Amino acid sequence: MNARRTALAALLLAATLPLAAQAQSAAKLKVGLMLPATGTFASLGTAIENGFRLYVAEQGGRLAGREIEFVKVDDESDPSKATDNVNKLVKRDHVDVIVGTVHSGVAMAMARVARDTGTLLIVPNAGADAITGPLCAPNIVRSSFSNWQPGYATGVVAAQKGYKRAMTITWNYAAGNETVKGFTEAFEKGGGKVVKELNLPFPNVEFQALLTEIAAQKPDVVFAFFAGGGAVKFVKDYDAAGLRRTVPLIGSGFLTDGTLEAQGSSAQGLLTVLHYADGLNTPRDTAFRTRYAVTYKLQPDVYAVQGYDAAQTLAAGLQAVKGDTRQREALLSAMRKASIDSPRGRYTLSAAGNPVQNFYVREVRGNENKMTGVAVKMLADPARGCNLR
Ligand code: BEZ
Repeated sequence: MNARRTALAALLLAATLPLAAQAQSAAKLKVGLMLPATGTFASLGTAIENGFRLYVAEQGGRLAGREIEFVKVDDESDPSKATDNVNKLVKRDHVDVIVGTVHSGVAMAMARVARDTGTLLIVPNAGADAITGPLCAPNIVRSSFSNWQPGYATGVVAAQKGYKRAMTITWNYAAGNETVKGFTEAFEKGGGKVVKELNLPFPNVEFQALLTEIAAQKPDVVFAFFAGGGAVKFVKDYDAAGLRRTVPLIGSGFLTDGTLEAQGSSAQGLLTVLHYADGLNTPRDTAFRTRYAVTYKLQPDVYAVQGYDAAQTLAAGLQAVKGDTRQREALLSAMRKASIDSPRGRYTLSAAGNPVQNFYVREVRGNENKMTGVAVKMLADPARGCNLR
């Protein structure tokens, strides 16, 4: 929307709202962005912010007539600092909505504060199952996935490929453990067996001893969850250890998303499963990718899509109340019922607030995670422990 149309839209909105609502809708909407700007997930945080800002820019810098003001906190992917960090946004900065974060452990602390204070929270990555499980709440939604989802979808594919004995390797924290659990559930249902789970503390990248163990055990397949800088190092080390040619590696798509340039030839041919892929070739995705590339001189990845869709989710809520956030019930209900026209494909939210979405099979070809098929159509998280219906 150009500047003149934006001004006209604001005038029309003012003419149709009562005075108190006009005052509210004239004020800026404060969005607290709690994302990693440092550490192994720093680039993931940048992509999420880029995606969010792109959608806001496409709407002329306003959502439902409200100009957006960003307040940013670097959460460093450090759970021990998470409660203090999120409290700064809620109690010091009085943000209207929090968007964050990448790391499951940090996000669980954010969800607890959001539940206690009633602050609106949109999670643009972290998959912690608890957020749309026991910690679910009407004011918490995701634009991403639950850890169970990509794990489960990858387990389906590994079993279909006929692998029987798998080893898993990941960081020992919620995202790693829950993704492995989802993988194991589907893989063993499909006739396979996870013979050994390997892990190391987050965000360590000393993989050598574990790679030696894989070489000794010679499973049919290795399933890995790593992301960001850790994924780059793991894929390179796996290749350098000579394992890529002897033991097939499969992963949830975080293993190769936003990392391919750094992984180079070591990632070629890797098979992963995720709710986004290169080569979807839909008009919606192509338009998004073109605008993202023009704006940031970068190709988007799954994190950029999730940031973009976090903004779309917020916009859906705000539009229903014409920007008046005091109409809380109506805003929350509109967000939760929204049908999001995502670059990944249209999706809706489950009763627990988690996307019900396709999971794609992807193969690394050059610098792309090329879509080669759909692993599971419209997969819903089981939302174990969530009492919202
Ligand atoms: C997580 O901690 O939930 C997570 C981090 C990076 C990629 C995917 C999940």
